Amino acid sequence: GGTLNAKFVSHGKKFWGSCADSNTLNIAANVAILTSDFGQVTPENSMKWDATESSRGSFNFAGADTLVNWATSNGKMIRGHTLVWHSQLPGWVSSIGDKTTLWDVVNEIFNEDGSLRSSVFSNVLGESFVSIAFQAARAADGTAKLYINDYNLDSNNAKVQGLVALVKRTNASSKLIDGVGTQMHLSAGGVGGVQAALTALAGTGLEVAITELDIAGASANDYTAVVKACLATSACVSITSWGVSDANSWRSGSTPLLWDSNYRPKAAETAVLAAM
Ligand code: XIL
Repeated sequence: GGTLNAKFVSHGKKFWGSCADSNTLNIAANVAILTSDFGQVTPENSMKWDATESSRGSFNFAGADTLVNWATSNGKMIRGHTLVWHSQLPGWVSSIGDKTTLWDVVNEIFNEDGSLRSSVFSNVLGESFVSIAFQAARAADGTAKLYINDYNLDSNNAKVQGLVALVKRTNASSKLIDGVGTQMHLSAGGVGGVQAALTALAGTGLEVAITELDIAGASANDYTAVVKACLATSACVSITSWGVSDANSWRSGSTPLLWDSNYRPKAAETAVLAAM
């Protein structure tokens, strides 16, 4: 017995969550699984800058409010996603050329070699945009855990090492960053480096979260490898699936989630429960 979230929490973890938003909160079969089996939600799109301020100074939190209201009335934790990201930006931000405007925490800021990605943020401000973002996020919320999040952190590779080094530099004089998020958009058979990656990320001394888990064409073994690696890493505090059902995945056609397109649990879901 037990659900993904309940079994994972019984191992001392914080939660097993999923992304959601108005479009998936409108599907009764999806909401039933989210309610019973998951402990946290991440807004899939509604808190991105293009959704909240598509024109400068004109704010729209309707989608974000729907997600937050659903989470609070159903007792779910929330991961805010995402403050500073080069993607899904409104045009007025992409075209900023001076330093008078910038606020808020960071997503996908690295190239694969571990250097900083070119973006309006790094181009205008250099690496200082990272500490500016974390300071602004802290000023806005004194208690939230503030994370740096990225993808392809799936082995102990150059990107992992670049991230660990930047976190240590940024936190050297005061602790600005609380945690490291690894998205884990994986593909079948691509899980061999996950344990080494989690161990390396834990080398920051911070908590580590798997923030957007999906595995294209996953076998049950791919999923259990990820779960076992998190269970074996004390710093690994949570897993968030990037959706519930294959019907609503952003990686459409790749069957990367734990419930099938008819909202039935897949073999991987059964295997994950058995592994916990
Ligand atoms: C994706 C959403 O799932 C899609 O609906 C949207 O069209 C594009 O963004 N990394 C992230 C997530 O941090 O925000 C992305 O989500 C997937 C990649």
